[in-house]
Amino acid sequence: MLSSKMEKALNAQITVEAESSQVYLSMASWAETQGFEGVAAFMYAHSDEERMHMLKLVKYINERGGHAKIGSLQAPPLSFGSFKEMFQTLFDHEVSVSESINELVHISLESKDYATHNFLQWYVSEQIEEEALARTILDKINLIGDDKGGLYLFDNDVKQLTVASSATEMTK
Ligand code: FEO
Repeated sequence: MLSSKMEKALNAQITVEAESSQVYLSMASWAETQGFEGVAAFMYAHSDEERMHMLKLVKYINERGGHAKIGSLQAPPLSFGSFKEMFQTLFDHEVSVSESINELVHISLESKDYATHNFLQWYVSEQIEEEALARTILDKINLIGDDKGGLYLFDNDVKQLTVASSATEMTK
C-alpha cells in the first residue's frame, strides 16, 4: 500500500510527464511548420515516450491500491525561437525531470517503500539516457550554429537518432 505522501508525489509526477509530452508535441508541430521533418519526427516520438512514462505511473499507482489522478495541464509554448534554443529548453527540461525523479526516490527511501524504490529505478536509468541524448544533440547544434546547410544535415541526423532510439526501445 502506498503512503499518502508517496501517492501524492507519484501523482504529481504524472502531471510532470504529461506536461513533458505536451511540450514535445508542441515542439514537433513547430519544427514541422518550419520544414524540419527530422526534428519533428524526433519530437513526435519523444512526446509518445513521455506519454508512456506517464501511463506507467498511472498503472503503478492503481496497482498499489492508490488512485492515479488525471488533472489539468499547463499549456506548452507555441514557438521555440531557434533550434538551438529549443534543444536547450529540452535539455533543461530533462534535467528538471531528473530532479523530480530523484525527489521521488528520496521519498520512497524515507517511507521505507522498497517496492516503489525498485519501480523508480527504471526512471532513474531512463533519465540518464534522456539527458545524454539531449546533451549529444545540443553539442551538435552548437557546432553548426546558424549555418543553413549544417541545419539541413542535422535534420537528417536527428531522423536517424529517432530510428535508432525506437529500435532500442523495442528491444527493451
Ligand atoms: Fe519522462 Fe523525458 O522524462
